[in-house]
Amino acid sequence: MELPSMSMAFVAAFCLSSTGGPTWDVSKGRKDGRTSKASETTQLPSPTFNIAQLQQSFSQRGLSLDDLVALSGGHTLGFSHCSSFQSRIRNFNATHDIDPSMHPSFAASLRGVCPKKNRAKNAGATMDPSSTTFDNTYFKLILQKKGLFSSDQSLLSTPKTEDLVTKFASSKATFNKAFVSSMIKMSSITGGQEVRKDCRVVN
Ligand code: HEM
Ligand SMILES: *[C@@H]1O[C@H](CO)[C@@H](O)[C@H](O)[C@H]1NC(C)=O
Repeated sequence: MELPSMSMAFVAAFCLSSTGGPTWDVSKGRKDGRTSKASETTQLPSPTFNIAQLQQSFSQRGLSLDDLVALSGGHTLGFSHCSSFQSRIRNFNATHDIDPSMHPSFAASLRGVCPKKNRAKNAGATMDPSSTTFDNTYFKLILQKKGLFSSDQSLLSTPKTEDLVTKFASSKATFNKAFVSSMIKMSSITGGQEVRKDCRVVN
């Protein structure tokens, strides 16, 4: 389930220009990944992560808490399957059926699209209601306890990240600027990469 997360950064990078979002130059020297294995994606952050786990996962890649909040705004685009958030909407824990950090009416609507005996494997929800528009709605929703994943909602759990969420929710321009600079930082992450002789195959 975590497979899409980091690679989504690049999906988002391509999507943005077609959805009216910010654009930026990707360094022409950026290397290609050596491998694309499901086993490697276990290192990617999980939607069930709390803030400490997210911070750890980002800092391992040289990314800060500021980058975490800005890049999480990538969830202004796209769709999620029920499996990525189902643990929040039923049998959350021994004392709460629903994650108390989720707005009850939002949880109710997600339960509607993700029935208990879910036979539709494509069932799920858009990441935000304006899911084809790159905007700051994602941050406004988090302030209303309507973040889809624990990882989204957990951005309110420290004063520093909460301040950033509030800042991005109140200014689209501030968010766009921060997003672009963090995307550039993330796109320069190195490791296990090479310049391919043939673009379609690993050397
Ligand atoms: C902070 C850590 C992150 C976590 C835990 C995470 C997790 C996820 C998960 C679980 C999904 C839904 C998969 C599914 O059920 O189909 C998803 C989708 C998505 N993510 Fe992330 N993600 C993270 C960071 C990012 C970043 C940095 C970006 C881009 C800058 C991003 C952009 C997206 C997009 C655009 C989608 C929608 C994909 C689609 O429509 O198919 N995510 N992410
Ligand atoms: C259930 O989750 C809530 C909110 O995260 C927490 O306060 C509570 O202690 C948890 N209960 C158990 C039994 O783990």
